[in-house]
Amino acid sequence: MTAEVITVGLGARAYEVRCGSGLLAAAGTICKPFTKTGRVFLVTDTNVGPLWGAKALAALQAEGLDAIPLEVAAGEETKSWEGLAGLCDALAIERAERGDLLVALGGGVIGDLVGFAAGIFKRGMDFVQVPTTLLAQVDSSVGGKTAIDIAAGKNLVGLFHQPKAVIVDFDVLETLPPREMRAGFAEVIKYGLINDPAFFAWLRANGQAVLTKEPNAVFTAVTTSIRAKAAIVEADERETTGARALLNLGHTFGHGFEVLAGFDGKLLHGEAVATGMAVAFGYSAALGLCPPHEAEEAIRALKAAGFETNPQRLPGAPFDAGALVEAMAQDKKASGGKLSLVLAEGIGKAKLVTGLDLNPVRAYLDGVLREG
Ligand code: NAD
Ligand code: GLY
Repeated sequence: MTAEVITVGLGARAYEVRCGSGLLAAAGTICKPFTKTGRVFLVTDTNVGPLWGAKALAALQAEGLDAIPLEVAAGEETKSWEGLAGLCDALAIERAERGDLLVALGGGVIGDLVGFAAGIFKRGMDFVQVPTTLLAQVDSSVGGKTAIDIAAGKNLVGLFHQPKAVIVDFDVLETLPPREMRAGFAEVIKYGLINDPAFFAWLRANGQAVLTKEPNAVFTAVTTSIRAKAAIVEADERETTGARALLNLGHTFGHGFEVLAGFDGKLLHGEAVATGMAVAFGYSAALGLCPPHEAEEAIRALKAAGFETNPQRLPGAPFDAGALVEAMAQDKKASGGKLSLVLAEGIGKAKLVTGLDLNPVRAYLDGVLREG
C-alpha cells in the first residue's frame, strides 16, 4: 500500500489530507506547526480512547508537545448541546487558550463535535482531524462542516470551520466493527452514484474487498472518495452554488429516518443514508427522471453491499409518511415550505431538485412505506 497527500485547495484555508498506514505515529510532526502554545488537547471517545488514544498521545508527546487527553462518551448522543457544553467546560477547566490546538481522534461524532467546539471556544481555535471510522475518513473529516444535533433534527446547529490538517491512518480501521465499516461504505458508494460511474463500477467489483479491509482496496476506496470530496468542497465550500449539495444524496430521506428512529445508536447514519439513496433512486425513477434500469442497478448495488433498501425494515420502523416528510422539512436544505432533494438522472448523474411540494413526496413515501 502506498501513501497519498490530497490538498483541499481553499486559498487561505487550504490544508492537506495525509493518507497512509501508520500515520498516527506522525501525529506530533503533523500537528506541531498548528499549535501556537505547544499545547494540544487530544479529544476522543470512550471506545476509541482505549484503542488508539495512547498511541496518538505518545506521538504528540514525542514531538515535545504538552498533550492533554480528553474523553467524551461514544455515540451520537454526544453530538448534542450537553456534549458540547461538557467539552467546552472541560477545556475551560484545563484553561485552554485560543492558541492551543484541538485534535479530534474518532469518528464523525467526534470530528463534528470537536470541530464545532474549536469554532466557538474563545471565539475560535485551530483543530486537526484524525478520523478513525471509514465514514469519517471518506467524508466527515474533510470539508469543514461541524455541527451538533438538536431535538428538531440532525446537524441543525453548527458552523463551517476547516481543519488545519487531516490525518487518515488506515491502520485504525483494524478495530472498526464490521457494521460501522459497512455504514461508512454507504458514503463511499455515494461518490460513485453522484458523478463517477467508473468508481461505481469499481465498487461493484471490489466492494467486498473494501468491507473486509483488504489494504489495496481500502486505499483506493478512501483516496478516491477524498479526492472527490475535496474537488466538490473546493468548488462550493459553503454549499451556495448547489455543487456541494450533491453530497447530500440520500441524506434528506436518511435524516428523516434518523430523526424518527431517535439518535440512540440503533440506526447508524450510514445505514440511514444507504436506504435514503435507494429511496432517492426509486423516487427519481417514479418521476421519470432516471431510467428504471439504472435505479434498479443502484438499489441492487446497495443491497449487495448488505444495506436495507426497504425503509420499513430499518431499526426504528415502522415509519409514517407524514411524520417522515415533517422531519425532512426540518432539513437545512428545505426552504419556504418546499423541499430540496438530491435526485438522479442515472448512475453518476445526481441532480439537486429544489422547490418540491411536500404532498407528492409524502404520497410517494406513503406508497413505499405501505408496500414495505
Ligand atoms: P461515530 O463517530 O459515532 O463512530 C461510530 C462508532 O465507532 C462509535 O461507537 C465509535 O466510538 C466507534 N469507533 C470509531 N472509530 C473506531 C475504531 N477505529 N475502532 C473501533 N471503534 C471505533 O460515527 P461515524 O459513523 O463515524 O460518524 C457519524 C456522524 O458523522 C454523524 O453524526 C453524521 O451526522 C456525521 N457526518 C458528518 C459529516 C460532515 O461533513 N461533517 C459527513 C457525514 C457524516
Ligand atoms: N457530508 C456532506 C458535506 O460535507 O457537504
